Amino acid sequence: MRVGLAGLGYWGPNLARNFDELADLVWLCDADPAARETYAARYPKARFTSDFAEMLADPGLDAVVVATPVPTHYELARRALGAGKHVLVEKPPAMRATEMDELVRLAEERDLVLMPGHLLLYHPGVLKLKELIDAGELGEVLCVYGNRQNLGIVRTNENALWSLGVHDLSVILYLIDEEPVEAIAHGRDFLTSGVEDVVFCYLRFPSGKIAHMHLSWLDPHKMRRLTVVGSEKMVVFDDMELERKVTVYHKAPWKRAETYGEWQTRSGDIHIPKIATDEPLKLECRHFLRLVSGDGDRRKVAHDGAMVVGALERLTESLRSSRIANAGQLV
Ligand SMILES: NC(=O)c1ccc[n+]([C@@H]2O[C@H](COP(=O)([O-])OP(=O)(O)OC[C@H]3O[C@@H](n4cnc5c(N)ncnc54)[C@H](O)[C@@H]3O)[C@@H](O)[C@H]2O)c1
Repeated sequence: MRVGLAGLGYWGPNLARNFDELADLVWLCDADPAARETYAARYPKARFTSDFAEMLADPGLDAVVVATPVPTHYELARRALGAGKHVLVEKPPAMRATEMDELVRLAEERDLVLMPGHLLLYHPGVLKLKELIDAGELGEVLCVYGNRQNLGIVRTNENALWSLGVHDLSVILYLIDEEPVEAIAHGRDFLTSGVEDVVFCYLRFPSGKIAHMHLSWLDPHKMRRLTVVGSEKMVVFDDMELERKVTVYHKAPWKRAETYGEWQTRSGDIHIPKIATDEPLKLECRHFLRLVSGDGDRRKVAHDGAMVVGALERLTESLRSSRIANAGQLV
């Protein structure tokens, strides 16, 4: 499998390292000569270019990985699919649902893989959550909520929803596996005008399940946590923990017949399943290569990606209307 990668900034080199190990990394493309120079010695067998088109023109290239800034994703992914290459594109692959739909259509027409780089979907801890839910271990899932908070890094070109929320949104939609019927976001741009530092999101799904996300770089807690509340058990995935990434609480409400329908609560064992320490990015890259080789459901990853972009767009619209109501800086 011959792979080319565009974007050698902060994140791209992690993808380059993995694809160099798992496949044939034959092209590296970056607009910045300093970035190309930095990696020239590390990848002596790869060809370097500043020109994305030059890389795409190689008929021997099977797949392209896009790790450039978000506003460039759609255009680069569209060109790569147009050139008949399979594409792994960093999240989100497009900033608008119509653009994402176009990418999905293009990939389907040409039977190509279009996979968004939703890293957390390959985290063994998240896979464990999905396994527990699908096995019915938690009973019926009632609600899911994510906390992604810290003090910093303060972004000025991307709000907390786009910078932090894509991760949790991809996981929530993956776990619930339904398209939200309601998507509401509220937030405030305290530090940089027009860029929300604190965002609260609410999602409601056709089955009645609900979800919430608290996204902020203006917070005393460093949290990377996802909680799933089921009717039988509750489970927490905490990415800040080294050894207890997933904790299953045998806690639930229940009704005793003789108390005339009054709700009681039950608190039982707390269970910490062993979670593999495999690097999620390696698992993500492996999954992509497997899809390219014809194994697995290549349409599903593209459709799941479109669901994330669709929800992001609706949350963004909702946030925009709350922004008008909140006009005026506090800091
Ligand atoms: N999955 C994750 O956990 C994770 C983490 C960090 C970043 N990311 C994603 O990775 C992507 C890149 O982020 P980053 O922080 O590395 O950005 P960055 O700004 O550090 O690097 C981007 C690189 O792309 C190059 N570039 C820009 N336009 C180009 C073009 N048209 N052709 C070739 N090269 C071009 C720039 O010169 C730069 O070197 C973003 O989509 C980001 O969301 C994902």
